[in-house]
Amino acid sequence: MAAACVRLMTLKPIIHGTSSSTFLRPTSLKFRAYSTALMSPPSTAIFYQDHGPPDTVTKVVEMPPVEIKANDVCVKMLAAPINPSDINRIQGVYPVRPPVPAVGGYEGVGEVHSVGSAVNGLSPGDLVMASPPSPGTWQTHVVKDKSLWHIIDKGTPVEYAATVTINPLTALRMIEDYVDLKSGDAIVQNGATSMVGQCVIQLAKLRGIHTINIIRDRTGSDEAKEKLTKLGADEVYTESQLDVKNVKSLLGNVPEPALGFNCVGGNAASLVLKFLRQGGTMVTYGGMSKKPITVSTTAFIFKELSLKGFWLQKWISSDKTDECRKMTDYLLGLIREGKLKYDMELTPFNEFHTALDKSLGKLGSQPKQVIKF
Ligand SMILES: NC(=O)c1ccc[n+]([C@@H]2O[C@H](COP(=O)([O-])OP(=O)(O)OC[C@H]3O[C@@H](n4cnc5c(N)ncnc54)[C@H](OP(=O)(O)O)[C@@H]3O)[C@@H](O)[C@H]2O)c1
Repeated sequence: MAAACVRLMTLKPIIHGTSSSTFLRPTSLKFRAYSTALMSPPSTAIFYQDHGPPDTVTKVVEMPPVEIKANDVCVKMLAAPINPSDINRIQGVYPVRPPVPAVGGYEGVGEVHSVGSAVNGLSPGDLVMASPPSPGTWQTHVVKDKSLWHIIDKGTPVEYAATVTINPLTALRMIEDYVDLKSGDAIVQNGATSMVGQCVIQLAKLRGIHTINIIRDRTGSDEAKEKLTKLGADEVYTESQLDVKNVKSLLGNVPEPALGFNCVGGNAASLVLKFLRQGGTMVTYGGMSKKPITVSTTAFIFKELSLKGFWLQKWISSDKTDECRKMTDYLLGLIREGKLKYDMELTPFNEFHTALDKSLGKLGSQPKQVIKF
């Protein structure tokens, strides 16, 4: 790698065009000294100076090269998703978030571009993912300590490698960690069209567990139901279909579920509770509707339901890096065997703000947006 200069740089943006297409360019470069330090290429990044509405605070910025220290690895990013938690971090409402100014994104995959002098076991051209996930993946080049990169099989489709950690791993952990489920048991979930929901359906099916799935009402709900059924869903209902006195009367041969997953809140959470059997457990892992969960007194006293919460970030941060990698390798194996798949839309990096609008729900229900660099 050619020697490069060490730069001290101040970002003074020149704003061209409207907010969504704005490019910020550094206008003052102060050259301090020339050295033989190994430097990354400049990086184009989705950057936010302050918290706020993601579609207004995020800008495309050209970042200067950074030094690649002895234990660092510089990765040329290939793909990174826009997850609901990325949006919450930019809004400033996620409990753990990088200090501003920051580059967006949290998980992603790329190809090793160059390595620091003390790095063994990773070489240019290797396919690596951020594992466990860490902030700043929405940029063309990321420099991080070697311990934050996990090498994976080059035959892995990049859009899956980019997305496997947060959502599929959440689905796997929630199925395994709360109730001792046996083949033939059932799970009920809302938000079934989400990436987590699609993974729950397939991972449960692999263990012989039935799924009862609740989706939002929409035009084209038959199409959404058909997609989930093809993935292995036993039952799929829109919320309005469940506006009946006894939801369990709809179940037919599927047993009453012992475990429920809620990522929506409001009425959709009440529906999960209504399906649960005596002594069942509902695990809440998201709040897409921003509405609170209401639980009847009956549910506690006579049905003896338990309410729990799951947060992957807390799970991983309790010294689970090795386990996290083992499980993502397992999930990537299922993906390569064609046993796990989910809906995604790959969007070129230069159309980031269109992908962001889709992720913000401005264009109706959309598949998971994955930025392709
Ligand atoms: N706790 C954790 O550790 C953890 C880990 C991973 C994910 N999550 C959470 O899991 C949830 C799903 O994430 P994901 O990445 O899998 O989602 P996703 O693929 O981006 O899909 C978004 C989902 O949210 C639904 N949705 C969007 N706005 C909604 C609203 N206003 N009311 C009801 N539903 C709405 C969508 O339904 P439509 O199809 O109807 O549009 C879709 O099912 C999110 O809440 C996320 O924060 C939590």
